[in-house]
Amino acid sequence: MQRTKLVTSADLTRQEVDFLMEEAEKLRGKTTQDLSGKICATLFLEPSTRTRLSFESAILRLGGKLINITDATQSSVKKGETLEDTIRVMEQYADLIVMRHPQAGAAERAAAVIQKPFINAGDGPNQHPTQALLDTYTIRREVGGVDGKIITFVGDLKYGRTVHSLLYLLALYKPEKIHFVSPPALRIPPLYTSILQKSGIPFQETQDLLPCLPETDILYMTRIQEERFEDPKEYRRLKGCYILTPALVEQGKNSMKILHPLPRIDEIEHGVDGMVQAAYFRQVENGVYMRMALLKELVKNSSV
Ligand code: CP
Repeated sequence: MQRTKLVTSADLTRQEVDFLMEEAEKLRGKTTQDLSGKICATLFLEPSTRTRLSFESAILRLGGKLINITDATQSSVKKGETLEDTIRVMEQYADLIVMRHPQAGAAERAAAVIQKPFINAGDGPNQHPTQALLDTYTIRREVGGVDGKIITFVGDLKYGRTVHSLLYLLALYKPEKIHFVSPPALRIPPLYTSILQKSGIPFQETQDLLPCLPETDILYMTRIQEERFEDPKEYRRLKGCYILTPALVEQGKNSMKILHPLPRIDEIEHGVDGMVQAAYFRQVENGVYMRMALLKELVKNSSV
């Protein structure tokens, strides 16, 4: 792996993903000194619990030091400083920047001006490549890998950047089939189904979850994201459209695993949490090790 930046999962090769999964496995439960002497900056201009804290945990576990901006109102972004200037200033203070931004395309703009390692931690409804990496790693740990599996995505497939990012990585493997379950207003954009078409991966779009369950190996639930809707009435109309109950889970195989990037609102009932199929909290833990693997590699590859 040679890269020093990760902007979109579309850039990743199967070889890189396999390598990072191997590295994440080796780093499980460990602390190292791979980032000793390095200062890492996190710039989060959109809310986050998992991504920010797992990156910060990963940096500390690798022996790095941390500086951050978590509240844009307390930074010069509030005074109108451009994203490009903010990034160019921050790289004078840090050896690596991890950024979350509310606008699609912001990560590409930031990556274009920074010389040092850079990671997109989510840019609006566009991309969330480290979530895709940890999701692929979770699929490998839970069911042995993507090849030959039937994966069902449920919920907000229009704005769901975790789904968009993961599809690029699934297309590097050979899943048997993909189901997209959503209301018509939140259908998966054609840009992403075209990736599957090009890779020869069969898929179907439907509004009906129940018939998909008996053959599903990975059930990937998503939140209807209030913050992405311009019209609050449209959000209220669609929220609660899919709610996974223990009775619904029983319609699937015992070996089915349920993933969710989290946070959840009401789309998975809490009664599901104790079922053997629920893998979403293990998915959270996997994020730390995958982010450790990525940070270690990008910093190692950097000559600045
Ligand atoms: N999965 C995820 O991106 O969660 P956060 O928004 O809490 O970072």
